[in-house]
Parts: sequence; structure tokens; C-alpha cells
Amino acid sequence: MQIHLLGTGAGGGFPQWNCNCDNCSRLRAGTIKSSARTQSSITISGNGEDWILFNASPDIRAQIESFPPLQPARKIRDTGIAAIILCDAQIDHTTGLIIMREHDKPWNVYCTSAVYEDMTTGYPIFNMLDHFRGVNWSEIKTDQSNFTVPKADNLVFTAVPLKSEAPPYSPHRHATVAGDNVGFKVEDTKTGKNLFYAPGLGVIEDHVLEYMADADCILVDGTVWTNDEMSRHGISDKLASEMGHLDQSSKGGIMETLSNLQKPRKILIHINNTNPILDEDSPEREKLNEVGIEVSFDGMEIEI
Ligand code: MLT
Ligand code: MN
Ligand code: ZN
Repeated sequence: MQIHLLGTGAGGGFPQWNCNCDNCSRLRAGTIKSSARTQSSITISGNGEDWILFNASPDIRAQIESFPPLQPARKIRDTGIAAIILCDAQIDHTTGLIIMREHDKPWNVYCTSAVYEDMTTGYPIFNMLDHFRGVNWSEIKTDQSNFTVPKADNLVFTAVPLKSEAPPYSPHRHATVAGDNVGFKVEDTKTGKNLFYAPGLGVIEDHVLEYMADADCILVDGTVWTNDEMSRHGISDKLASEMGHLDQSSKGGIMETLSNLQKPRKILIHINNTNPILDEDSPEREKLNEVGIEVSFDGMEIEI
């Protein structure tokens, strides 16, 4: 399968429009070794022609312009995106549906019933799209059963329930239900290889660790280096854990967990603009390099 990383930033992207943090201000000034990142989305193809979009970011318009396989090529109104799969109902993962409202037929959208509820109540994008061509919803179960998607040739998907947070506008905020957040195992039946993708991960439960250990490549929550990163920057008192993100640097955090895995290629994604790992010359980035963990960037291509 071909995996193309459209957006490797967290919500807000890098630089964030109103942010003057060390990273954002240095990126604007051209004094940091790093690159701008759009908001969280990847796309995968098993046949090189039809693409599955994982999460629809507010930056989808620019992301499509950055990646010709998603662009119109066959008829007057057209796209290479065959279906959209959502990990959750967060703004950075769903707002692109509004941007793509001009689609000439209902979008094939795959998400859990918990996410469907958010998208028809707290953030009623699906209801709004009913005034355009609508959404053809397929329910993703949280029982870790396999599913396939039309046109996603050679690919088998499994949703992996995760402990994270429902969005602030969700009826399930602070009382999360199964399916508020899922990651995905995507297996290529031709190569026998599999990807584990989880851009929002609050707790690494045993079943999650098993998926990670068995994967050939993992793309996993790289939001923050420290749990108190937002307060360190004087931005907010909220801990990353309260937003459903496990930090990299603590004991039992993402870095330690990933560094113990032998099989997979390990890549961080959904990186917040405050995270020091965005600076390629930082000591934090050096620590990741030492344990073989990569930091993703927009336009990164992976083939497994
Ligand atoms: C998150 O990942 O926690 C959210 O996307 C934050 C946001 O709303 O930007
Ligand atoms: Mn996010
Ligand atoms: Zn910033």
C-alpha cells in the first residue's frame, strides 16, 4: 500500500494563525530548522488509483493541491478520494467535509456510531451536508472486526478502540463511550504488511500495544513532548492528558513505549506547534533519533 501524509500537524497546524510560541515565531522568521505542517490527515491506496482519506482536515483544499493523485482527472467534477474514514469527530479531523461539500455525489464516510452522533448533534456537519449531496454513512464497529471499503482494493481495515477524549462539543465529553476515538490497522493482502494509525492516543492499553508490536509501520500520536506543554508556554492550563493525548517524554510515555518495539518503523504524527521535536536541531529531536523514532512531515511517503 501507498501511504501519503497530507497533514502532520495537530489542530491549528504549524505555524498556528494566532500563535507566537518559540516554534511558530521562529518558523515565521526563518530561524528554525523545520517545516510548516498542515492539520492531521493521511491518505492510503492499495491500487495506486483510488485513495482512502483518513480524516478530513480544514486544510484539505491545500492538501489536495499538494498531491496530484487526489485531483480531478477523469471528468468535469472529480476526485481520487473514494471514501473517507474518521478516527473521531474533532474539528481538525472533520471540518474538511464542509470544504469538500461540492462533491457530485454523497460522500462515502466510515465512522463509529459515537462519531456519527457527534456529527449530527454537537458538530452537525452531516446534517449540514444534507443540504448539499449528503453523506452515505457506513458504521464502523468497535469490536475489532475487519471491514473492507469499495475501491480500496487489497486493503482490510480494523478499527481499534482507544482511550482518548471526545471533543468539547460532544454529548460524550467527560463520559467517553466506545468509539469516540479509534485508531486503525490497515492490512495489505498483497504484501501481507500492515499499518497502525492512531493520531489521538491517550492511553496505551494492552490491546493497542499488541497492534503496535505486530505492525510493519506505526503512525502514532506525536502531539506533545511533555504533559504540561501548554502551561509551560503560558497558553493554557490544560494538560495534554485532559485532551486525550499521551506525551512523549514521561515514563511510560510514547517514546519509551515505541523504543521497546522491534518490528515496526515508528513515526510520530499529529504534532502540536509547541512541541520541541519540530526543531530538527533540538535535544528532544536528538533523543528520538537515538531510539529510532521518526518525526513525520507533510508530503512524507511510505510504502509497505
Ligand atoms: C485534539 O487533537 O485534541 C484536537 O484536535 C484539538 C483541537 O481542537 O484542535
Ligand atoms: Mn487533533
Ligand atoms: Zn505555536
